[in-house]
Amino acid sequence: MEIKHMKVLIVYYSMYGHIHRMAEAVAKGANVVDSTEVVMRRVPETLPAEVLKKMGAIEAQKTFSHIPICMLDELASADAIIFGTPTRFGNMCAQMRQFLDATGGLWKEAALTGKVGSVFVSSATQHGGQESTILSFHITLLHHGMIIVGLPYLFTNQARIDEITGGSPYGASTIAGNSNERMPSENELAAARFQGKYIAMITSKLAGHQREIIDGMRKT
Ligand SMILES: Cc1cc2nc3c(=O)[nH]c(=O)nc-3n(C[C@H](O)[C@H](O)[C@H](O)COP(=O)(O)O)c2cc1C
Repeated sequence: MEIKHMKVLIVYYSMYGHIHRMAEAVAKGANVVDSTEVVMRRVPETLPAEVLKKMGAIEAQKTFSHIPICMLDELASADAIIFGTPTRFGNMCAQMRQFLDATGGLWKEAALTGKVGSVFVSSATQHGGQESTILSFHITLLHHGMIIVGLPYLFTNQARIDEITGGSPYGASTIAGNSNERMPSENELAAARFQGKYIAMITSKLAGHQREIIDGMRKT
């Protein structure tokens, strides 16, 4: 059996499947890097079934209900965490906020400090707050002492203007459309794969050394 020596955790919320599709692409990219265990997890739903029904989310959510719910200790045991969230009024969704607000105990122990953190998003419209969602998400990651990684311009197709596309130096993204009718394009999925691979490559150089760095810093 192959020994996996580092863990990349992908934690996300998706209502209609856009972020789920992007998460699969991030996972595909991270899987390319040797000795990487890639784990996909969802954050718990907070909306009642009747509200989800009114929002037309029930059928879509069934297609990824097999993805397990993330346990807090899984964050602590990962070497890198890549978070995915739909935009809600220019910010992360409440389901993700609630999940993160339960990580105070991990913060107290600096359990996520020195781990690689990254974010990808989805929004209905092109200028509906993808960048503000990622950048404001980074604040929480910084409080945890995480090392933030985005989507460098090495992924040159984030700059293309021959088609409508998500993707920015802050992270991969997709544009879902006002009725959530548009699924991630091939370019957006390529950005997500790139981000996953890039993070796994960086993490492969850091994995196993985080504790050493933190202990060293505590002595200074
Ligand atoms: C309450 C609410 C607020 C939203 N706010 C925004 C927004 O600020 N900008 C935007 O472009 N889309 C917004 N959307 C659309 C979602 O971002 C979109 O449905 C989502 O990205 C689809 O991804 P998912 O299928 O993974 O949930 C909002 C949706 C809801 C329900």
